[in-house]
Amino acid sequence: MHTQSLVALALASPAAALLRFGCSQLVVDRIDPLVNPGVAPSPHLHQIIGGNSLNISMDPKVDIGETATCTTCQFSEDFSNYWTAVLFFQHRNGSFHRVPIIPNAGFEGSKGGMTVYYMQDGLANYAQTSKVTAFRQGFRQLVGEAMYRSKKDAQRFRQLTYTCLETIGTRFPETMNLPTTPCKTGIMANVRFPTCWDGKNLDSPDHMSHMAYPEQGTFESGGPCPASHPVRVPQLMYETIWDTSKFNDQSWWPEDGKQPFVWSMGDKTGYGTHGDYIFGWKGDSLQRAMDSPCYVNCPTLKTQSINTMNKCAVQRTVEEDIDGWLDHIPGLEHLEL
Ligand SMILES: *[C@@H]1O[C@H](CO)[C@@H](O)[C@H](O)[C@H]1NC(C)=O
Ligand SMILES: *[C@@H]1O[C@H](CO)[C@@H](O)[C@H](O)[C@H]1NC(C)=O
Repeated sequence: MHTQSLVALALASPAAALLRFGCSQLVVDRIDPLVNPGVAPSPHLHQIIGGNSLNISMDPKVDIGETATCTTCQFSEDFSNYWTAVLFFQHRNGSFHRVPIIPNAGFEGSKGGMTVYYMQDGLANYAQTSKVTAFRQGFRQLVGEAMYRSKKDAQRFRQLTYTCLETIGTRFPETMNLPTTPCKTGIMANVRFPTCWDGKNLDSPDHMSHMAYPEQGTFESGGPCPASHPVRVPQLMYETIWDTSKFNDQSWWPEDGKQPFVWSMGDKTGYGTHGDYIFGWKGDSLQRAMDSPCYVNCPTLKTQSINTMNKCAVQRTVEEDIDGWLDHIPGLEHLEL
């Protein structure tokens, strides 16, 4: 699906909801309030977007939809926090450099960040007629396993993929591994969460087992949820565009011809990609949006300008070098890469 057709569709007014919105960077920090609450530094660096109630502990009893005072997201009632690992480039000489994030088409001017989707049906289904139950206060989830390094392991998760961007609008093909050749405009990391909830637990010890994939087929094909996880929730998806174009000089790439990008947990394969989510929409705003006619533009929701989004930020908790040429990835001093 190309951005152009999404924009054109936004002008029609179908019966149901697909949210697609930009969020600027809130902070890049070595914290992980979901997997390592209260721990600073956490094992690896993350890039985080959303509401400014983010902190290292994030008690699930606290309604961040009420405590946050600003958000980096375009829909200003969304104080959720969303994050992924951070991509680095490793120069042939061994040094590392953090790869900058650029905004998606339609969100020009946004300071880094991601594009977030909440879908009732697959992206290509313009009608978006299936009912979904929105996430609620206290809900959290994780998808992906930071330690995975093989395709076989990574097959446990559907649709954690990469798109090698020829242009900002390239959407095919998607691969499970990091692209192996230079990508002209960048590398888009796509994270799609499972869509079936057990209906009881807002979280689980591994932050995943309260969620499941459809029993047969896929979310996109309308596959039914398993009896253990009967509640169909929106498909949450993140797109992050890593501007790898600055690092495409072949004389900087490894002499063995391997690709030079590495995730902040030391993963050069791409199979360790993961995304984290802490729900924080204010009141019933997400359910209201999912029950209203909106496709990209949602009149039932309040929006803010990109300028205002860019002004929301939180201080870094862990003070360390994350910019410029580095001799190691933060937290990975002892890892041979
Ligand atoms: C995190 O925020 C909560 C309120 O949302 C607060 O009670 C707690 O003290 C904060 N923790 C830290 C470490 O700042
Ligand atoms: C590696 O190359 C970069 C870019 O030219 C340079 O800034 C950096 O200092 C080099 N690192 C080492 C260890 O030579």
